[in-house]
Amino acid sequence: MKGIILAGGKGTRLRPLTKVTCKQLLPVYNKPMIFYPIQTLVSSGIKDILIIIAPEYSGHFLNLLGSGKDFAARFSYAIQEEPKGLADAFIVGEDFIDNDDVTMILGDNIFERDFSKEINAFKSGGMVFSKKVKDPERFGVVEFDKNKKALNITEKPAKPKSDFAVVGLYTYDSRVVSYAKKLKPSKRGELEITDLNNVYLKKGELKVNIFEGLWEDAGSFESLLRVSNLIASKEHTK
Ligand code: TTP
Repeated sequence: MKGIILAGGKGTRLRPLTKVTCKQLLPVYNKPMIFYPIQTLVSSGIKDILIIIAPEYSGHFLNLLGSGKDFAARFSYAIQEEPKGLADAFIVGEDFIDNDDVTMILGDNIFERDFSKEINAFKSGGMVFSKKVKDPERFGVVEFDKNKKALNITEKPAKPKSDFAVVGLYTYDSRVVSYAKKLKPSKRGELEITDLNNVYLKKGELKVNIFEGLWEDAGSFESLLRVSNLIASKEHTK
């Protein structure tokens, strides 16, 4: 199992902070944001990690993270020239993925627990995690049948069919590269991870695990402050 951290993008919601560096290098309490997804992958047993970054400030990532030695991991880097969408990670990362399974985590997503149990048990197809949230319209939303079997996933629906959002950690077998290459950009011009998940779902090969526990997307001022405060209070009670 290889790992990808998607740490490019524009970070428009965090301007003007993101005018001096990338979102994923901003502090979340006492660490740069990207330390958290690195920790999530490493503690899930994934040590071979590709970090996908935007051309601007790419040197900042290299200065901070280097070879990965400090994290007992091995880092590679790839530039995403344009933010073409989350599913583009598997096209940018094609050579790195080779014929292996891959777990991609978003560079601004913060989890408290690791995923080693589920990742160790992964055999083939796709696997995502879904969490009940108050604002499902901001995410990919899973519709379930009575037996909690996933029926479909809709990206940022105006009228969500459930409160279950897909969180920013996704595991796939190596077919993901060819599936990503066949995707067409959505109305907002992006290669959507939701479309990729629906490819696996339609084949009956997507496992949707219900996720409980801390998950924050630290990409807005409110969530960045919330997660920073939460981590600060946990550090103080250690
Ligand atoms: P988003 O938060 O959806 O996008 P963004 O980072 O550009 O922020 P904003 O909406 O404020 O402009 O992205 C989620 C994560 O994925 C984040 O770590 C950035 C990364 N990303 C890429 O690396 N490439 C992309 O093409 C996109 C869309 C996101």
